[in-house]
Amino acid sequence: MAKKVILDVDPGIDDAMALCMALFDPRLEILAVTAVGGNVSPQVASRNVQTVVEQVDPPRWPRLGVASSAEHGLPVDGRHLHGIDGLGGVHLQVAELRTRHPAEKIICDEVRANPEEVTIVALGPLTNIARAFQRDPELPSLVGRLVLSGGTVAGPGNVTPAAEFNFYCDPQSARSVIRSRCTKTLVPLDITNRIVMSYDLLNQLPPETSKVGSLLRQILPPAFRAYRQQFGLEGIHAHDSIALMAVLNPGLFSTREMAGDVETQGDLTMGATVFDRRRVPAWRHNIEVAIDMQKDGVIDEMLAALAEAGRRTSKNRFDV
Ligand code: RIB
Ligand code: CA
Repeated sequence: MAKKVILDVDPGIDDAMALCMALFDPRLEILAVTAVGGNVSPQVASRNVQTVVEQVDPPRWPRLGVASSAEHGLPVDGRHLHGIDGLGGVHLQVAELRTRHPAEKIICDEVRANPEEVTIVALGPLTNIARAFQRDPELPSLVGRLVLSGGTVAGPGNVTPAAEFNFYCDPQSARSVIRSRCTKTLVPLDITNRIVMSYDLLNQLPPETSKVGSLLRQILPPAFRAYRQQFGLEGIHAHDSIALMAVLNPGLFSTREMAGDVETQGDLTMGATVFDRRRVPAWRHNIEVAIDMQKDGVIDEMLAALAEAGRRTSKNRFDV
C-alpha cells in the first residue's frame, strides 16, 4: 500500500529534485504539494511548485497549496544558490496559477481526510506546518509522521554558525512544531551535509527525452556553478532528497529519540537547534533524530528514484 504523503517545499533546486523523485515513486501517493517561502519568496515558491509539477506532469496531479507570507517576513533567501527565480535562473514557463488554496488549509483537509495515515515531509521553513497546527489544534495527533529536513545536532549551521536555513527562516514556527505532540523525525544538516553529489550526477540523470531528465538537466548545472563559486565545492548538496529517502527507506538511517527545541532570539543564536544532551537530561524526548545513514545506500536509492522518474516521464517509448 503506497504511503500517503504531503510534501511542503520551498523550491529551490534541491526541493525540485526531491519532488521529481517523490512524484513518480510507486511507494508514495502524493496527496498534496504545498509551497512555503524560504529559498525564494512565498509567491515565487508557489509559482515554482506549479512549474515543477507542470514540467514533469505526473499521471495524477497532487493538490497544490500556495504559500502565504511568513508573519515576520523572511530574514534571508537562497537565491545565491538556487538562482534569481529559485530554479537555476532558467525562467521556465508556467500556466496561469491554478486555484489558489492556502497551503495550511490543504494540509488540514488532507490530514483530516486520512487521519493517522499521512506523512508530511517538510523540506522548507515550518511556517505552513505551524499554521496548520494553529488552524486545527487536534491536527498534530492526527498526522501519521512529520519528517523534517533541517536543524543541526552537533554540527555548524549553514546560514549562520549556529542555525540551519529552514529553522533560521522562521524560528517561531520551528519551535512550535518541535514542541507539538506530533510524531516527528528530524534529518539534520549533520546527516545531509555528508553527501555531496559530484558532477557525475549530470551523467546519471534520466535522458533529455524524459520530462524529469529535461527539467533537471536545465536546473542542476546552475546549482553546480553556484556551489563552486560560493563554496569552492566540486558538487552540490541534496539535503531535501536525503530527507525524502528517510521516508522511502527508513532502514538506511539510524535514529535516536532526543529532546530538542529551537532558539527564537539572539543575534548569534536565532534559529539554532538545541538538544538536551546532559548526562541527566531534564527535557522530555520529543523528536526522533537521524544520527547516521548508510551513505552509499542513500545515494543508490536517490539515483534509482531518479531513474524510475525518468522511465515514467519518458517522451520516447524506446527509453525503457
Ligand atoms: O538547509 C538546507 C535546507 O534549506 C534545504 O531544504 C534547502 O532547500 C533550503 O530550504
Ligand atoms: Ca528546501
